[in-house]
Amino acid sequence: MNIIWNAEKYTSDFSFVHQYGNNVVELIDAAAGSSILDLGCGNGALTKVLYDKGYKVKGIDASEELLSIARKEYPAIKFMQGDATNFAIHEPVDVVFSNAVFHWIDKEKQPDMMKCVYNALKENGQFVFEFGGFNNNRIIHNALANIFEERGFCYEMPFYFPTIGEYAFLLENAGFRVKYAVLFDRLTELKGENGMEDWIKMFIKMPFTAVQSEQEKEEIINQAVTELKKDLFIDGKWYADYVRIRMKAVRM
Ligand code: BEZ
Repeated sequence: MNIIWNAEKYTSDFSFVHQYGNNVVELIDAAAGSSILDLGCGNGALTKVLYDKGYKVKGIDASEELLSIARKEYPAIKFMQGDATNFAIHEPVDVVFSNAVFHWIDKEKQPDMMKCVYNALKENGQFVFEFGGFNNNRIIHNALANIFEERGFCYEMPFYFPTIGEYAFLLENAGFRVKYAVLFDRLTELKGENGMEDWIKMFIKMPFTAVQSEQEKEEIINQAVTELKKDLFIDGKWYADYVRIRMKAVRM
């Protein structure tokens, strides 16, 4: 994953990420007491939702910044530091759950992540997840890419947003049977009058490493915000053009 989180701001201003995750939790079909690993648990907000449902939960995340919030907020839950593409757990679990994480993993690394998930699951264990799907934030990325190009920079897309077909193929190759898959648009309200600027600054860090001057970075963001207004500023509120891929697969 290629981001250093501003964990406090992420938790206060981008809480929609875990709020929407509640719907993904509903896909889990397991009795209370079943064991669940929350992969990429971040600040632990959804791990806590799973805990409150009576599951035996553990969270793994790469970010110590986010884990320190999780441990402070939810001391009864075990949180571990780990890389989603290179982890192992001692005792296999009934369910691996993940929300808003896999788009941060390079396409080439997805099979490594799936192998770790496979090994972490009991036979017939469920793999339930949602993340950014094909064409996620297309309007925002296109605007930024055009502005980068006009100014002589290359906008390297830092995320992986697959179609259902592409992702199902990877899952099947990794030994999973796909039971449910959906790709859908979710126009998502951003917080505050600087919602789009804040969103770009929080999540789009990597492409800006190509731009040396801090002033030019600000100019690019301002230009993007101005251009995005016509499509994503609606009735006085900012929105991001999210597309979600939500799936459930079973370890064979
Ligand atoms: C997402 O949740 O789809 C997402 C959030 C930030 C950057 C990229 C994708």
